[in-house]
Amino acid sequence: MDKSSAKGRINELVSIIEKHNYKYYVLSQPEISDYDFDMLLEELIRLEKDYPEFISPNSPTQKVGGDISKEFQQVEHLFPMLSLGNTYSEEEIREFDKRTKKLLHNDPEYVCELKYDGVSISITYENGKFVKAVTRGDGTKGDDVTQNVKTIKVLPHLLHGDNIPELLEIRGEIYYPHNGFNKLNEERIKNGEAPFANPRNAASGTVKTLDSSIVAKRPLSCFIYYLMSHEDSFISHYEKLESLKSWGLPVSNDIKVCKAIDEVLQYIQDWDTKRQQLPYDIDGIVIKVNASKDQLALGMTAKSPRWAIAYKFKAERVKTKLLSISYQVGRTGAITPVANLEAVQLAGTTVKRASLHNADIIDQLNLHIGDSVYVEKGGEIIPKIVGIAIEDREADSNVVNFISHCPECNTVLVRKEGEAAHYCPNEDGCPPQIKGKLEHFISRNALNIDSLGEGKIEMLFDNNLVRTPSDLYLLTYDSLIGLEKTFKAEEGKKERKVSFKDKTVKNILQGIQNSKEVPFERVLFGLGIRHIGRTVAKKLAKNFKTIDQLLIADHESLITIDEIGDKIANSLIEWSTKEEHKKLINDLKPYLQFEMEESDTVAASSKLQDKGFVISGKFELARDAIKNEIEINGGRNLSSISSKTDYLLAGEKIGPSKLAKAEKLGIKIISYEEYKEMLK
Ligand code: IVH
Repeated sequence: MDKSSAKGRINELVSIIEKHNYKYYVLSQPEISDYDFDMLLEELIRLEKDYPEFISPNSPTQKVGGDISKEFQQVEHLFPMLSLGNTYSEEEIREFDKRTKKLLHNDPEYVCELKYDGVSISITYENGKFVKAVTRGDGTKGDDVTQNVKTIKVLPHLLHGDNIPELLEIRGEIYYPHNGFNKLNEERIKNGEAPFANPRNAASGTVKTLDSSIVAKRPLSCFIYYLMSHEDSFISHYEKLESLKSWGLPVSNDIKVCKAIDEVLQYIQDWDTKRQQLPYDIDGIVIKVNASKDQLALGMTAKSPRWAIAYKFKAERVKTKLLSISYQVGRTGAITPVANLEAVQLAGTTVKRASLHNADIIDQLNLHIGDSVYVEKGGEIIPKIVGIAIEDREADSNVVNFISHCPECNTVLVRKEGEAAHYCPNEDGCPPQIKGKLEHFISRNALNIDSLGEGKIEMLFDNNLVRTPSDLYLLTYDSLIGLEKTFKAEEGKKERKVSFKDKTVKNILQGIQNSKEVPFERVLFGLGIRHIGRTVAKKLAKNFKTIDQLLIADHESLITIDEIGDKIANSLIEWSTKEEHKKLINDLKPYLQFEMEESDTVAASSKLQDKGFVISGKFELARDAIKNEIEINGGRNLSSISSKTDYLLAGEKIGPSKLAKAEKLGIKIISYEEYKEMLK
């Protein structure tokens, strides 16, 4: 590569890696596998080594990836949170051993540990009491997520045992166990929310959730792998881990002290297979020099300790044959191409399908039917096609052309400028879109008719009873009783027969009846208008107060609202001009709430403008209702007490530590009555 191409490629890599860092750390929505990311980073490191004159201070090689978000208070780490040098090759592990021996002039012992795949956390205990938990952030300072991490059951609030240092800072990894993760995603899909791509994203998203009560409901867990301190008498890392365990902290039992590098390599090989049986994800093995004096002698580079290295497992990859492509139509009409494959074993499961995402990916791969394809399963649950064995291609094979018509209703597909997906525009006539919209309408965060879940919408659709949400309000006992359907066995699920008997029918009708009380903002969300999620629906309802006002709003008045941009405004205007949607609203009006409740509209003010509130303790009213009221009156709800808090709204049985912290920071503590006074 010549000098000018090297410069160009370095700049390109810096911006690509920056983008992926943002997606990974801030959005918790990575687009590429860890392996692909590491390969990009490695290419950049190599080029920067050859052309150091092109290293920019903004290069990702010059800083640690960051996950700081605006909502949490930022806290400086007592000791910086470093990362580890990593490799995918056994050869490099041998080189690490050689290098270490040379620097130490002895043969060191190593501790091998699993590399837990979650989010790293730094936790501080003072006099044995859990006082703070902070994310890695940019390595020097991170987000204070104490309230959230305190809800993790395996982490004791009080340590017990001997010789606990007065100030103890420990490092560990918070992870999402597989069974909890699967349940969480099932639930999210049921509620029309996007599922998490993998357990690591679920862990990171949960740790950064603003409401600790949501975190408390999720089964997060944690392993501690390191004890920080300036001075200590521990002679080895292993001894530190044993002490941490004896104080009640969660330290893995799968840790091994190895006398020689061959033992380390054996441990790596064993776990490369055994990892499939673990109830949580690991993405490699961490190898650490055991003796404290050796660690001290080896020291650190700016980014990572010289006494440790991570061996990362390659995502498992197998070759199989592409048989055909199916196209699925989602609730919004988005078309997802799915590759049907010759069955193959991959990472402990039989794989017959792989996701292809969109037409661009098919084009990039230049897929032909009958191709030998490489399938990979990284952190994601659904395997994907990552390449083709071009040498296996038959001369007369046909290239895959993305379909032009909807496979369900034969409407011509459209692709909007700037969007990757093709859509079926027949939103009110295409069966999966109709069913999907009805399922969204009844979902928990919308009209919450849970008695119609688990396939019952499909039964109503099949029997021609329901086509639009307004049809639900015309259902009667007689129209429902006796309906039956046997649902075919799906992968991993048994055949299931559903019959509408007396109790089921009464539950359904009661659920429909209850939905008539659901507030306007949730009805609006339930209509399933593209780009109008829960938060946007809430904002629109709050600003326009009634559906009639909202549906006549023009582009200009829509985009003046905070967080509403062109995309949402256009989508709403397009939706409301369609005759069938005007009819739907008219048909639903006799049954549902299409106006903000009197109390909400009257209460709206700017009396609490920009004031930050933390609510704690028990109140007569549901906390969500108070939070809502705070927002309606211009205030902000904060998850934990910090210098940004203006008021601590204290209910009954509020914890003494919260009160003490508020007092220490000089934050005003108010009762519910005082709060109500502020609104008058
Ligand atoms: S040791 C100075 N041990 O891997 C100590 N890290 O870049 C450095 N990780 O984000 C870390 N399991 O959160 C260590 N057994 C383990 C680990 C581990 C997972 C994570 C860690 C960090 C990344 C290393």
